[in-house]
Amino acid sequence: MNWLKSRLLTVILGVAVLLAGSVFLTSFTNNIKLPDNHQGYEPVQPIAYSHRLHAGELGIDCLHCHGGAERSKNAGIPPVKTCMNCHKFVTAPWVDVKAEGDLADKEKRKSREIISPELKKLFEHMGRDSASAPANPAPIEWVRVHNLPAHVYFNHSAHVNAGVSCQKCHGAVETMERVRQVSDLSMGWCVNCHREANVFGISGTKVQASTDCVTCHH
Ligand code: HEC
Ligand code: HEC
Ligand code: HEC
Ligand code: HEC
Ligand code: HEC
Repeated sequence: MNWLKSRLLTVILGVAVLLAGSVFLTSFTNNIKLPDNHQGYEPVQPIAYSHRLHAGELGIDCLHCHGGAERSKNAGIPPVKTCMNCHKFVTAPWVDVKAEGDLADKEKRKSREIISPELKKLFEHMGRDSASAPANPAPIEWVRVHNLPAHVYFNHSAHVNAGVSCQKCHGAVETMERVRQVSDLSMGWCVNCHREANVFGISGTKVQASTDCVTCHH
């Protein structure tokens, strides 16, 4: 009898421990905040600026607009001024300008300045309603695509100067109409590349990409 009681007690205790354990585990895993994964994020921007057109078709170098990537922690977003270097002269796509020219010719009208709706937004940021009016630039509120948590330290120039291409981390931006987050920006993504780079180098050059916690968390 005593023997049975103690066996029962053990079983009951065992079940209780298991139950408590599983309750603890579920509440634990439910409370672990899995890192936000924004892979694929592709926000709509205030102006339909196209990397496919500018960096792809027109072949403008990434560093022309993101020169910070070579010199500093941040790649940086270019000011309206950088856009206006060209858009003082380019106020609409060539096809529209040409179509307007043909029309003007046919109807013997004087060609007027044509401004496409997307570029009109750009001129409005310059405080202008035409390409030639005086300038009073206001920043464009571009929507940030990539965002590491505040506890992570990242540095562009360290990577760019070690020969890691923009595309390795950001994908083929020069084919994107709208920028999309291609990599998941997880810790595993960073650390795996550091490990591989230490073994295989970057384009044949030996590198030392630290995997110490303090390299990325300080
Ligand atoms: C003529 C200027 C210009 C050129 C050239 C250019 N960019 Fe950009 N880039 C921008 C602007 C403006 C934004 C902000 C709007 C947007 O996200 O589209 C941006 C945004 C980005 C972003 C997203 C930043 C974020 O918010 O997280 C990445 C990544 C990027 N560019 C990479 C590149 C790469 C790679 C190239 C070359 C293949 C390149 N860019 C060429 C102007 C430029
Ligand atoms: C090196 C010159 C150059 C720079 C710098 C440049 N663009 Fe352009 N952009 C052009 C050209 C050329 C076109 C027209 C291409 C065509 O004919 O389709 C154009 C077209 C555009 C269009 C499309 C217009 C439409 O209605 O289809 C937008 C919007 C635009 N650019 C925005 C920007 C913004 C914003 C910036 C700054 C971040 C910028 N551009 C910087 C040369 C430039
Ligand atoms: C080793 C990976 C890696 C490489 C290489 C890289 N980037 Fe980035 N980039 C990132 C990460 C990660 C972020 C997000 C940083 C943050 O949130 O602090 C980012 C953010 C950006 C941004 C947002 C704004 C800013 O100031 O940082 C732009 C623009 C950008 N990258 C452009 C580029 C361009 C252009 C190149 C090539 C010249 C490049 N990146 C190379 C990983 C990379
Ligand atoms: C595609 C490969 C690759 C990816 C992805 C990558 N790194 Fe790196 N990282 C490198 C290389 C290569 C170096 C430079 C090694 C050298 O200079 O010898 C480096 C160096 C660094 C350094 C050292 C910079 C310094 O000041 O010495 C930091 C910090 C760093 N990476 C953080 C990150 C973080 C955070 C991420 C993820 C968000 C990341 N890296 C993703 C390849 C990568
Ligand atoms: C090469 C860069 C890099 C190194 C080295 C690194 N981490 Fe991270 N770590 C990251 C990034 C990036 C994140 C953010 C991941 C995310 O938000 O998805 C992160 C996130 C974390 C988090 C938070 C997880 C969460 O849920 O937000 C902890 C904890 C952490 N790292 C601990 C460590 C420890 C401990 C080490 C050393 C063994 C280490 N890390 C080394 C890049 C790194």
